[in-house]
Amino acid sequence: MTTESTVTTESTVTTESTVTTFETRAGSPLRGGVRVPGDKSISHRAVLFAALAEGRSQLTGLSDGDDVFRTRQAMERMGAVFTEEGAAVCVDGGRSRLHEPDSAIDVGNSGTGMRLMAGWCAPMPWLTVLQGDSSLHRRPMGRVIEPLTKMGARIDGRSNATLAPLTIRGGQLKGIEFHSPIASAQLKSAVLIAGLSAEGRTLVHEPMPTRMHTEEMLTQAGVDVDIEEHNDGSVTIAIRPSALTPLNLDVPGDPSQAAFWMVAAAVVPDSDITIDNVYVGPGRNGLIEVMQRMGADIELTHRDAVTADIRVRHSRLKGIDVSGEEVPSLIDELPIFAIAAATAEGVTNVRDAMEMRVKESDRIAAVVGEMGGLGVAIVEHPDGFSISGDPDARLTGGVVNAHLDHRIAMTGAIAGLLSATPTIIHGWESVATSYPGFADDLNHLTGGQSR
Ligand code: S3P
Repeated sequence: MTTESTVTTESTVTTESTVTTFETRAGSPLRGGVRVPGDKSISHRAVLFAALAEGRSQLTGLSDGDDVFRTRQAMERMGAVFTEEGAAVCVDGGRSRLHEPDSAIDVGNSGTGMRLMAGWCAPMPWLTVLQGDSSLHRRPMGRVIEPLTKMGARIDGRSNATLAPLTIRGGQLKGIEFHSPIASAQLKSAVLIAGLSAEGRTLVHEPMPTRMHTEEMLTQAGVDVDIEEHNDGSVTIAIRPSALTPLNLDVPGDPSQAAFWMVAAAVVPDSDITIDNVYVGPGRNGLIEVMQRMGADIELTHRDAVTADIRVRHSRLKGIDVSGEEVPSLIDELPIFAIAAATAEGVTNVRDAMEMRVKESDRIAAVVGEMGGLGVAIVEHPDGFSISGDPDARLTGGVVNAHLDHRIAMTGAIAGLLSATPTIIHGWESVATSYPGFADDLNHLTGGQSR
């Protein structure tokens, strides 16, 4: 049998975009090699830092998703110049080029784009209006507005300055000492990026470690970043105002996209795949560790300290618990992790993952509703879910609503590989935000045909 996937465009048109559907069902194993898009978190930062750096940066392997494209467009609108040179994107940046945008900036679906850009715009001596799609306008923005306001920016937003659109009246900021109430790399990064242009030192205390791309990439751009890890697991990051030197960067593959193929290969019998050149550095390797604990056959061939080729073969999994400090290191992978849990023997519990509720959708509700609808034995908790898995179980097929969330859409597509009858994902267009080539890569790995 061959795995089949079909993309169709319905006549339904919402106010935002045309709704498309995608269909998968069980068939061939996944085999061969795949290269996933450049890491989205690194790509956003590369574009933002290149625009700030005095001189020409050279970036290769940037994410080809809409989210990063919009951050690039925003930087262009504020004066940075982007030129394609072969496979590279060259960015001519620097303060003297930058200026006020002439209209509102639309970051689409991107929470990272909006929050990081809030920090980026806060010290700029002009007015920026940041807006997005209806999913983004529901997500909490008060968390970044509060510290940036303490630094001296004047920021307003809907619902008493808690929701986008945001208006940012930037200007001279002063450094602050910020105790972050949540483990959020976006929040930490927004404050640190603003701190690059603030008077004095900016310190961020995070309750537990989160992805460190901002710290790593600012260091590469010549900024002095002090990082102190404390005995209670919390971390303090300190920076002083600093100019950035241009970046020369080859963006590695995105582990949050590799996650879909890792889980698919682990759960579909006879699969054996290798995902090339994936970022596996601090704060992003949680899924690999968790799946290895479940008994997954995952082998890493290291290219350097933070990237690896990942080989995954089908294997029998067993249920485990995921909670606490581990959660930030796989927060975006928890929807697709539900599929691994559904095929694992015994119960898998995911707890302490409240942040899932404020992503592109309420991902706890979406995973529970949509996977439950396909026959997964799943129970909702305020901060996660529990799944009673069965290695021999097959899912029922049916309709999955993407909830305007790319990761729910792609999770639905992989769930379909476990069902003899079709699984139809409604709202497939959201996949373009992070992985426009997903359907092609699925077809390539399964030998299927896209129609
Ligand atoms: C990101 C941090 C995470 C993650 C998001 C990307 C980043 O969000 O979910 O997809 O690039 O800093 P939080 O910081 O809100 O946890």
